[in-house]
Amino acid sequence: MKSPSDPVRLRVERLRTVFPEGPGHDVPVVDDVSFDVGAGETLALVGESGSGKTLTALSIVRLVPAPGRVVAGRVTLDGRDLTALDEAGMRAVRGRRIGFVFQEPMAALDPLYTIGFQLAETIAVHGLARGAAAGRRAVEMLEAVRLPDPARQAREYPHQLSGGQRQRAMIALALCAEPSLVIADEPTSALDVTVQAEILDLLGDLRRRLQLSLLLITHDLGVVAEAADRVAVMYAGRIVEEAPVARLFAAPAHPYTRGLLASLPGTRPGRRLDAMPGPGARSRRGAPRPSTRAASGRPRSLTSRRIIAPAASCTIPNDASPGRPRDSAARRPPPRQGVSGRRTRLVPAIGARAGG
Ligand SMILES: Nc1ncnc2c1ncn2[C@@H]1O[C@H](COP(=O)(O)OP(=O)(O)OP(=O)(O)O)[C@@H](O)[C@H]1O
Ligand SMILES: [Mg+2]
Repeated sequence: MKSPSDPVRLRVERLRTVFPEGPGHDVPVVDDVSFDVGAGETLALVGESGSGKTLTALSIVRLVPAPGRVVAGRVTLDGRDLTALDEAGMRAVRGRRIGFVFQEPMAALDPLYTIGFQLAETIAVHGLARGAAAGRRAVEMLEAVRLPDPARQAREYPHQLSGGQRQRAMIALALCAEPSLVIADEPTSALDVTVQAEILDLLGDLRRRLQLSLLLITHDLGVVAEAADRVAVMYAGRIVEEAPVARLFAAPAHPYTRGLLASLPGTRPGRRLDAMPGPGARSRRGAPRPSTRAASGRPRSLTSRRIIAPAASCTIPNDASPGRPRDSAARRPPPRQGVSGRRTRLVPAIGARAGG
């Protein structure tokens, strides 16, 4: 649990990201967002689908899919202004200082490489170890994320692992370069509840042991209650409320947060669950419904946002590696660096998911 004396690890100030919608018209999807994550702290970013959680994360690491763009704001990590960095500087930060965990492990894992190779490559790219030493370190990481037979699993391909094991492998990939901050975007939503609990436990344990800060993106208040110190509630691109977990659950201040809590099963036995209109609920003519207006404090044009398909096609590393079919290399577009620092399929995969 964070104490007031803990240093700030990540500071996000007035971040604003837009997508163009017609000539000369930009629609904000991350709108004046500010928050801090302390050293060793877990901040949960919650909000309904489409509220801008993923794009907030992508804006922090400057991986917003085109034609979206970050137009304002400042992001500092351990006091260092990331917004002042050029692309090469940002590549050094992604994966090395900031690790990413996604809902879908295949967004980060390459199906054509063994798990061990991908970890060792990331470790080497960030200059932490090379060759056999990087391979040993990869196995240690798989052990740290509690994979049952790490040496064997290092030699396996992603499809040979179960969903929960793949999620652990992705956590290992996110942590192998010893980042100080991990951004986990719906890391457990695709898993069944037992595995979900194990993964949350693992993340909590690693956070304590490695003094990690965690930005945990979720729409699941059960996950928030279990894993977070503080919560920031996002609605229509904005942070509408921020509080320590206990206070948020006991005395939610914002109407949207109250609605979110009221929509939880089991909170009021015998009563029907409340449904929330959300920012997408509006009249045919585009005017927000009154409840939406009350919750956000201001009507905005949100439903007219289009999902724009990412321009990039799937990119895959093109260097030779064990176990990779040769004949497909010529068809591939050039490699691109992903969040981990490896050349991955990650960027298009994020783009494909970004519409939520
Ligand atoms: N490529 C895109 N082009 C235009 N709008 C986009 C694009 N990607 C996302 N958006 C819009 O940005 C808003 C925020 O999307 P985002 O993916 O951040 O939501 P989210 O809170 O992560 O949702 P979910 O819980 O479903 O993952 C949504 O309204 C979405 O339609
Ligand atoms: Mg999302």
